[in-house]
Amino acid sequence: MRYAEAPPPAAIIFMAKLWQGRSDGVTDSLADEFNSSVSFDKRMYRQDIEGSCAHAKMLAKCGIITADEAAALVGGLEGILGDIESGKLKIDDGAEDIHMFIEAELTSRVGSVGKKLHTARSRNDQVALDMRLYLREFADTLTDAAKELVAALADRAEEHAETIMPGYTHLQRAQPITFGHQLTAYAMMLLRDIDRLSDCRRRTNVSPIGSCALAGTTFSTDRMYEAAELGFDGVCLNSIDGVSDRDFALELLGCLSIMMMHLSRLSEELILWSSWEFSFIELDDAFTTGSSIMPQKKNSDMAELIRGKTGRVYGDLVALLTVLKGLPLAYNKDMQEDKERVFDACDTALSSVRIMTPMIRTMSVKKENMRRAAGGGFINATDLADYLVGRGLPFREAYKISGRLVSRAMADEKTLETLPLEVYREYCDIIDEGVYDAVDMDGCVRRRASLGGTSPEQVRAAIEYVRGMLSE
Ligand code: ARG
Repeated sequence: MRYAEAPPPAAIIFMAKLWQGRSDGVTDSLADEFNSSVSFDKRMYRQDIEGSCAHAKMLAKCGIITADEAAALVGGLEGILGDIESGKLKIDDGAEDIHMFIEAELTSRVGSVGKKLHTARSRNDQVALDMRLYLREFADTLTDAAKELVAALADRAEEHAETIMPGYTHLQRAQPITFGHQLTAYAMMLLRDIDRLSDCRRRTNVSPIGSCALAGTTFSTDRMYEAAELGFDGVCLNSIDGVSDRDFALELLGCLSIMMMHLSRLSEELILWSSWEFSFIELDDAFTTGSSIMPQKKNSDMAELIRGKTGRVYGDLVALLTVLKGLPLAYNKDMQEDKERVFDACDTALSSVRIMTPMIRTMSVKKENMRRAAGGGFINATDLADYLVGRGLPFREAYKISGRLVSRAMADEKTLETLPLEVYREYCDIIDEGVYDAVDMDGCVRRRASLGGTSPEQVRAAIEYVRGMLSE
């Protein structure tokens, strides 16, 4: 119910609660609405049911409930799962949260045995469990999507292992590189993102269930059994920490923020390269929009949105850090605020990665324009200096002479490739015909064959490494 639709105070509707214990369980309808998280935690219904099934089995294994009771609970829970997935059962937005909704639904289906499910657990460890299960699965989904993007980058890089373009520093043309080298740089960043995700997944994959409200339980439960049932690598070894810890969510937000930063830098380059001023690439029509007023325009909206959404994911990270920073141990309701931020960041990062992949696969590359831009900015001046070093000059001196030659070529409206030998020799008499080889753009790139360098051979080796990492 929206605030505006809320009945006047005299008509406030009161509802009884599952947690009606000390209090009479009667709350203001505005408070109910304010307190409720079901509208956003309902996406964890599957994890909640999976956790509850494992819990019922554990209770039976430990003799806390009977095998028949466990079977009734599991049967009821599986029925609920099937009905939610088929659309037969709608999750009630009036419920307090997904945990309460499923427990109440279960009891209405299987009778009073349903009330035994919550033995030796609390919503505090239950919600921590659901989040870990959900995020563990999300990390796998995102990893798969990111791998597809890396594969797309590697394929395009291979195609352009010899395509020469200017490499930039300070957004000034710096040295010739290959487009394949530039694309492989992004593949490397994403490989690190994937590695960070798997590291984060490792710390997420620890079971908090059995921490109960905060202090553990008087029942002799088997936390290790329940954790193993759920595919966890281990259990949280301090029950207070088990219910208070949201590091795994923060860590994921950190991973997503870094990944988005990488996507944002790539987006920024795609936008620049698509501009008339660069004209290095053209994004496929499927991933651009037109202007409603300027018919000549083709806008890189998807790339711009990824760049924009990066700010949103950073915001999610900072929001959760801020929510947690002042919380005393153990559980506090503030922690319910983790979900919208975490889910928002998950959805945003996943959709960004998924849109970037086909955008990379379908972009057309204007090799001639890249090549032309590489020719116009004296980006082979370092190669000239390296040539002079090869002829015996110390680098600093070679650097100075190259600088003077660049000024001279500019004044004469020449390039280093077209400057006559007599002019070269006015500045340094050890220069011979070999200088033209040294400043030849293809040669400049081919000779940068140091490990990780821009030569086609090194780029191909890097692509092979990237593909090897993908198949790991
Ligand atoms: N909806 C709550 C959350 O997301 C579940 C845990 C509630 N625990 C409690 N003691 N009220 O955090």
